[in-house]
Amino acid sequence: METDLKEFIAGLPKAELHVHVEGTLEPDLEFACAQRNHIDIGAKTVSDIDHSYGYGLEEFLKAYYTGMKVLRTEQDFYDLTWAYLQKMAHSSVKHVELFFDPQAHTSRGVSFAAVITGIHRAIVDARALGVDTQLIMCFLRDFSKESAWQTLLAAEPYREKGWLTGVGLDSAEHHNPPLKFMLVFAKAKSLGYQLTMHCDPRQVDSVAHIKEALEVIEVDRLDHGTNITEDPDLLDYLLKQDLGITVCPIAYYYTRQNMELTAIKELFARGAKVSLNSDDPAYKGDTYINDVYYRFAQEAHWGKDELAQIAKNSFTSSWLSVEAKKAYLKQVDDYVKANN
Ligand code: ADE
Ligand code: ZN
Repeated sequence: METDLKEFIAGLPKAELHVHVEGTLEPDLEFACAQRNHIDIGAKTVSDIDHSYGYGLEEFLKAYYTGMKVLRTEQDFYDLTWAYLQKMAHSSVKHVELFFDPQAHTSRGVSFAAVITGIHRAIVDARALGVDTQLIMCFLRDFSKESAWQTLLAAEPYREKGWLTGVGLDSAEHHNPPLKFMLVFAKAKSLGYQLTMHCDPRQVDSVAHIKEALEVIEVDRLDHGTNITEDPDLLDYLLKQDLGITVCPIAYYYTRQNMELTAIKELFARGAKVSLNSDDPAYKGDTYINDVYYRFAQEAHWGKDELAQIAKNSFTSSWLSVEAKKAYLKQVDDYVKANN
């Protein structure tokens, strides 16, 4: 019975809409990059690299920003992205909307061009594996709004080439509300970007931040945002707008020992377009998307029907064209018919 559900998940066509490429940096590549870039990370072997951390978002972010310091060249960003997309090709992930954090690299003296060119080359190569990827550039909310403006400007040549689909907002949330970036997001919208934004669970002012993201920024999708269930009117608004909401239950478990099970089940039961995602798999117990589906299903007592609906939500709340969505939804239906 257990193997049956695991096998079902392994073959289920799905999209991943919330994953940070830097959060997929596994110790083996981290070690290799440190060696070839002559960076001392205090590890003599791969097994000396420890991705564990204490409790909460800030503790996780410390480990995340420390790990990525080994990424310096275009090839490093290629290898990072390629390793993740290869895994997705073997996980029946057909479509990825991938976050990256340019300021976390440009602030260390790495050029924007090296970061985005390396990532983009891997995206192009992964098309041959059947994985179609769009890129979402996140602004670091604990950096200044001027820095976000500079990043938006630096991205222009690449947006013009069609390499970028959306902008997002991540990093340390306390004292860094969506409103701080209102004008940058308005400009991004006018340039044709899709908008999304992290509202991590259980932050100070979580509900207020969700409200700003939905009502002021007018995001096209919401990342995390599980505290919306505390505000029935706001939840009604999300449902009325039919907005996607990307949740990462195993990531919450690793950061806060809590999967937000009740909130996620409520969102699902109310018909919200909720999708299950990994967030930062290399920092969350090596839980890639199929592990997330399986572990959440066990916890929620969900079976194939619910997981198939989640997979459908992942496509309907993606930024794919109407035709592409239709084709992927048919793939899910056909798969369910053949495997029920
Ligand atoms: N950066 C990478 N993962 C993140 C998360 N879950 N929240 C905020 N910033 C992040
Ligand atoms: Zn995230």
